Amino acid sequence: MKGIVFTELLELVEEKFGAEVVDVIIEKADLPNAGAYTAVGTYDHVELVRIVQQLSELAKVDFSELVKVFGEYLFGRLVAGYPVFLEGTTSAEQMLRSVHDIIHVEVQKLYPEAELPSFGYDTHADGRLIMHYQSSRGFADLAEGLITGCAKHFNESAEIEREDLSGGKCTDVRFTIRFGALV
Ligand code: HEM
Repeated sequence: MKGIVFTELLELVEEKFGAEVVDVIIEKADLPNAGAYTAVGTYDHVELVRIVQQLSELAKVDFSELVKVFGEYLFGRLVAGYPVFLEGTTSAEQMLRSVHDIIHVEVQKLYPEAELPSFGYDTHADGRLIMHYQSSRGFADLAEGLITGCAKHFNESAEIEREDLSGGKCTDVRFTIRFGALV
């Protein structure tokens, strides 16, 4: 997993919980590089899971909840870092529909070693967007948080229904999303 994901996570933890908490969780997560991440480096995604697990224990907040909150935050950081992907995009649905065939394709060109998920798209009979996440890394919570962050960015609400087709492993998850106006 790209270092930018780690550096943003540690920045969020520092912002919300303070620098001491960052030190404690890095120590407890027993990481090979002692928590020294660079944005352009590549690291094992399991290290990210270990960091969040430690934070979850320390802060007594559910693991999935933490990953979702992080995803929401990460969306804002990604668009700030890569504003070109927002050009000409006027809605959350338009943006989300471009993740697989445009955004992540460009990301892969920039970072050939990036390990990106696969997204399939469909439209529900009632008009809702269906976004089908597949990745061996099982970061469906991150995807959910990114979807929420995306909706907020466009001042929209998103009601997300989630169906885990991988028996709780979060590697194969179908999201069905209804967008609305933020009130
Ligand atoms: C400006 C927009 C975006 C950029 C620049 C971007 C870029 C990236 C990058 C650099 C990674 C890390 C890849 C690696 O670690 O090797 C990543 C992972 C990921 N991205 Fe995006 N992304 C964007 C938008 C989105 C959105 C809107 C979603 C919505 C669902 C999404 C879903 C994911 C997920 C779930 C992962 C984790 C990897 C996995 O599950 O296997 N991304 N993205």
